[in-house]
Amino acid sequence: MNHDLQVLFDPAQIATRVRQMGAEIQGWYDPGEAIMVVGVLKGSFVFMADLVRALDGPINCEFLGVSSYVGTHSSGAVQITQDLRADIADKHVLIVEDIVDTGLTLDYLRRTLMARNPASLRVVALLDKPSRRKIEVEVDLVGFTIEDLFVVGFGLDLDQRYRNLPYVAVLQQG
Ligand code: XMP
Ligand code: MG
Repeated sequence: MNHDLQVLFDPAQIATRVRQMGAEIQGWYDPGEAIMVVGVLKGSFVFMADLVRALDGPINCEFLGVSSYVGTHSSGAVQITQDLRADIADKHVLIVEDIVDTGLTLDYLRRTLMARNPASLRVVALLDKPSRRKIEVEVDLVGFTIEDLFVVGFGLDLDQRYRNLPYVAVLQQG
């Protein structure tokens, strides 16, 4: 099945915003302080690849797998499908998310990672759909705030498809 895709954020808009975000994030940390960048798989991998190149301090890249979505609907139950290999105790952890929707994933991740005693824990997301929140959760920095639309591209998928689009598009299901 093919879908109607409408570009919401093009590659140039994303690149500009990611550079700004990198500069802002860098300001949160002391010069030379190492950041443990934790990408939430799979959706964040494209954003994270660009974001880390907009940071100039020392970083570690780690990944954590979660799943809560089937098709275009959240099942509500968050599952860790691949845990971190690294110990985050006393590290400055930066969670990188593709999109915050109901907030359930992020709330779960925040609580789970805080229990491991990082030196700090901050969250950055490329996209935010605040109108969909089911739980209040803190996001330190958002790339773009969007309406209640299902989006794909730039890492985001519909049943694993479209992650490789170099832009964010709204999906019209037909
Ligand atoms: P929650 O509801 O827990 O969801 O905040 C976060 C995760 O849900 C996925 N998600 C989407 N994926 N297009 C997607 O491709 C969307 O519009 C969308 N909204 C939520 C995503 O994996 C995110 O990490
Ligand atoms: Mg997804």
